[in-house]
Amino acid sequence: MHLLTDFDLTKDQVLDILDLSSEIKANPVEYSGCMRNKTLIMLFELASLRTRISFEAGMNRLGGHAIFYSIAGGKFTRSETLEDGVKNLNEYVDIIMVRALKQEAVERIGSVATVPVINGMTERFHPCQNLADLLTIKEMKGGLEGLKIVYVGDGWCNTANSTMIGCSSVGMDVTIVCPDYPRYSPNPEIISKAMAHSDSEITVSHDPESGVAGADVIYTDVWVSAGMEEEKKKRMDVFPPFQVNAELVSHADPDCIVMHCLPAHHGLEITSEVMDSQKSVVFDQAGNRMHAQNGLLLWLLKK
Ligand code: CP
Repeated sequence: MHLLTDFDLTKDQVLDILDLSSEIKANPVEYSGCMRNKTLIMLFELASLRTRISFEAGMNRLGGHAIFYSIAGGKFTRSETLEDGVKNLNEYVDIIMVRALKQEAVERIGSVATVPVINGMTERFHPCQNLADLLTIKEMKGGLEGLKIVYVGDGWCNTANSTMIGCSSVGMDVTIVCPDYPRYSPNPEIISKAMAHSDSEITVSHDPESGVAGADVIYTDVWVSAGMEEEKKKRMDVFPPFQVNAELVSHADPDCIVMHCLPAHHGLEITSEVMDSQKSVVFDQAGNRMHAQNGLLLWLLKK
């Protein structure tokens, strides 16, 4: 089984992975050898701090081994195609994680891999981030069902997509608060598919204050995602009213927590005041990248 998009997991499967993640996190010694003799290869077309280090450190903690390999330009070295490269990897490794500019590359890898493939982020989805987010929300709020998460910022981006799909699948209501332009609003096809994948509400709002009303979780991410750098100037004009600042947070539930996928741009999508406040759980969230992925790795290898 692969995790190529958030749609690949049912509600029960997500909850199983979260339970296993919590179990491993709470009992590190018991699980310290569960990946013995297992090798993860991490294919990166784009730079990373959290994804690279959390997978590598996680495999190390579980007694396994992780290898970093660059696929800059969407190819293996010596211009080997993705398909040929992966047919080699099938012979050597137990699991593949890939961060690519385009979802198509992850799908191509999945189509020839005989071992599980994990999407470590593309322009469309970031399912590992969502598993870490759900683990964090569950820890901070004591559950997931019935909570309201409000994503403020670029509604078209990968993190918004994974938040819509993953959070709604486990019974959270999702609101996307974004500028009123199709380019920055959620893809209608993703909304329809996410609603068919869950029983939850998915709402789009272009008004930050009313959008965050009653929010248990406010979530934001960068205004200029990887691969969109040429749009930076226009985005800097459009997104400032969607900054997560203390004034905006005051309109949410008094016990609301604030999350960020990271890296953060202080003073743009989030103020330092909010990022460093008691409501911010961004570094717990970053830490849970490793714990959620450990649960995912073990769960996939047990399938
Ligand atoms: N949030 C996230 O995926 O971080 P990296 O780009 O550093 O991996």
